[in-house]
Amino acid sequence: MSVGIRGHLVHFLSDPSLGGSEAVQNFSDGVLIIEAGCVAACGPYASLAERYRACDERYYYPDRFVLPGFVDTHTHFAQTDIIASPSPSLLHWLEHYTFPEEAKFADPNHGRAVAQFFIQELLRQGITTASIFATVHPESCEAIFQAAHDRAMRVIAGKVLMDQNAPDFLCDTAKGGIEASRALVERWHGRGRTPRFIPTSSETQLRLAATLYHEIPDLHLQSHVAENEDEIAWVKQLYPISRSYLQVYQDFGLLGPRATYAHCIWFDDDDRRLMAATQTAAAFCPTSNLFLGSGLFDLAAARSHGLTVGLATDVGGGTSFSMLRTMQEAYKVAQLKGLTMTAEECFYLATLGGAKALGLDSMIGSFKTGKEADVIVVNPEATDLCSRRMQSTKTLSEQLFVTMMLGDERMIEQTHILGRPMQTIEPKGAARAN
Ligand code: GUN
Ligand code: ZN
Repeated sequence: MSVGIRGHLVHFLSDPSLGGSEAVQNFSDGVLIIEAGCVAACGPYASLAERYRACDERYYYPDRFVLPGFVDTHTHFAQTDIIASPSPSLLHWLEHYTFPEEAKFADPNHGRAVAQFFIQELLRQGITTASIFATVHPESCEAIFQAAHDRAMRVIAGKVLMDQNAPDFLCDTAKGGIEASRALVERWHGRGRTPRFIPTSSETQLRLAATLYHEIPDLHLQSHVAENEDEIAWVKQLYPISRSYLQVYQDFGLLGPRATYAHCIWFDDDDRRLMAATQTAAAFCPTSNLFLGSGLFDLAAARSHGLTVGLATDVGGGTSFSMLRTMQEAYKVAQLKGLTMTAEECFYLATLGGAKALGLDSMIGSFKTGKEADVIVVNPEATDLCSRRMQSTKTLSEQLFVTMMLGDERMIEQTHILGRPMQTIEPKGAARAN
């Protein structure tokens, strides 16, 4: 089965903050040829017209950006129904909203219903891959894997491991948590598991988690680190002789390739060096960090120490499912830290950069031949204001900047997974065979 997608193609070959203009590939009238769900060719229409016309299915999106699907490197599906809950700070928010909400996921029917909504919302937002926290209940993990699988989406997810310092109704046991994780790994070779953060896992559980991470090839690991100053003080109480919060994870063997840590705000340069040396990635969660008053992630310092960074919504500490809104807030956080990002840098973080952070860049994140064809269609003139503002742009950079700064889900016109469209396009939509 072959699929052709024609439109204004933009994607990244490398990090534009390092690579200059050749990092971006831009075909204003471009074509993607997709065979068996993977990119077979990407180039100008002028040179691919014949192959495009021979495709079994063709989608033509004039005046639309066609981009790789967004990659959300950290989010919590079980927090969908508590997004936008006011709180002075992280630990209060966990206690008053998050833990009571996550308790509802003991009921598999509830988990399935929320998972269906969550995956549908990701697709509506143009997010084609996400690294997802479930809850402590294995059934919740099962529900999110199943909902993603039903739409052929590539996701990373894991059962939360939590055997102390949390309400009893949300605790597993050190061994039971790992056994349930192992069963999920065996069933869903998407392969994930997830200690919540240092305070809520016992030393035994952290050690067993590390054993599983090192034992199973290609296993992903996700957690939180250095988000909030009270949280850091708590970890200091629990591990007084450890040099830093991050060092505790390192001492348990929980840093390494395919490990992604959300927040990474209160780091010093030794922490940044440790992240880089262990090839551990950071998930930058700007809407969450601003909403919970956690602090400002230092992207410039992360870059200068060679950290791999992806962008993340962190729903429901984060206040939006939209990666465009998340990019806006990332831009503003960087401004406050003295770094002015280009639109290309922001789009890179949301696509290939995210794929790299999750260790999935050989499979997704760009239109390189052989990668899975997860593709989104963005209408930069989706609103009257955007349309008006777009008239006074001259360059691709300006157009991407306006798209990012004024954008939200109204701009996401279509999401293709493995080449196939996921949404029913309304009559005013642009797709037409041509
Ligand atoms: N730290 C531990 N758990 C959580 C969570 O659910 N959300 C955020 N933002 N931080 C955490
Ligand atoms: Zn989180």
